[in-house]
Amino acid sequence: MKVLETADAMRAWSEEQRRADKSIGFVPTMGALHEGHASLMRAAAKGNDIAIASIFVNPTQFAPHEDFDKYPRTWDADLKICEDCGVVAIYAPRKDAIYPPGYATYVNVEGLSEGLCGVTRPIFFRGVATVVTKLFNAVHPHRAYFGQKDAQQCAVIRRMTLDLEFGIEIVILPTVREADGLAMSSRNRYLSAEERTRALCLSRSLFGAEQMLRDGVRDAKSIVDFVRDGMAEVQIDYVELVDADTMQPVEHIEKPSVLAVAAFVGPARLIDNVVLNPK
Ligand code: PAF
Repeated sequence: MKVLETADAMRAWSEEQRRADKSIGFVPTMGALHEGHASLMRAAAKGNDIAIASIFVNPTQFAPHEDFDKYPRTWDADLKICEDCGVVAIYAPRKDAIYPPGYATYVNVEGLSEGLCGVTRPIFFRGVATVVTKLFNAVHPHRAYFGQKDAQQCAVIRRMTLDLEFGIEIVILPTVREADGLAMSSRNRYLSAEERTRALCLSRSLFGAEQMLRDGVRDAKSIVDFVRDGMAEVQIDYVELVDADTMQPVEHIEKPSVLAVAAFVGPARLIDNVVLNPK
C-alpha cells in the first residue's frame, strides 16, 4: 500500500492510474477507522479498479473548544483496516501541506450548512467542504464514498460537487451499527460503559419513529415529540425531521425525509439519523 503525503505526489500517482484507464474510488476519513469506514472502503474497492483513502484530521472543522487535540489517532490500526479492505493508496497529508502559512480560501455551501449541526458547530461544514474540495483536487477520483450517518455532510458534499462541477459521483452508503443499534462513530471511544448504555436511546428512539411511520403516523411534530421523550436520559442538541436534499424542516412526511438527532453524552457529541420513507 502506497502512502502519499503531498497533493502533488497524490495527483501525479492518481493521474498515472487514470492514464492507464483505471477507475478510482475514494474514501475520505479522519482515521480512527471502524466498520463504518471499512464498509465504504470495501465498496470503493469493489466498484472501481482502484480504491484510495485519505487520513487527515482536519483542523478547520473543529472549533477551538472542540476535540481536535483529543481526536483518536490510530495510524497503525488504520493502515491494517485499509489494507484488509483493498485500499491500494493512502493520502495522508500533514497539516501544513493542506493549510500552509497564509492559507486564506474556504468553501461555504450556503443554506445547507447553517441548520442542524451547523447551529452548535457554525464553522464545521465550511471546514468539511474546504478540505473535501482539496482532497478531491489531489485524488481526482471518479467516485467518492460517504456514510449516511453524516446525513447533513452528505447533503453539503452532494450540493458542493454539483455546484463546483467536480464531475465526481457521490455514493452514500447506509449507517453501520453495533449489534445493539448504536451507530458506529470514532467518538464512541470517548464513552464510559454507563454513557454507552445511555447513548443507545438515540438509535432506540429512531427505530421507534420508524415503527410510528409503519403504523401510519406522518406528522413531524408527533414523531419529533416521541423521539425527544425517548432521549430524556441524554442532553439533546437537536431532533429534527428534514428534507434529505435541502435539510429544511418538513411538517408532514410526503417523500423520504431524514429524522436526525444529535446529543451530548458524557464527553461525546453523537449524531444519528434514519430516513423515513412513506412508501
Ligand atoms: O466524515 C469525516 O470523517 C470528515 O468530515 C471528512 C469528510 C473526512 C472531512 O474531514
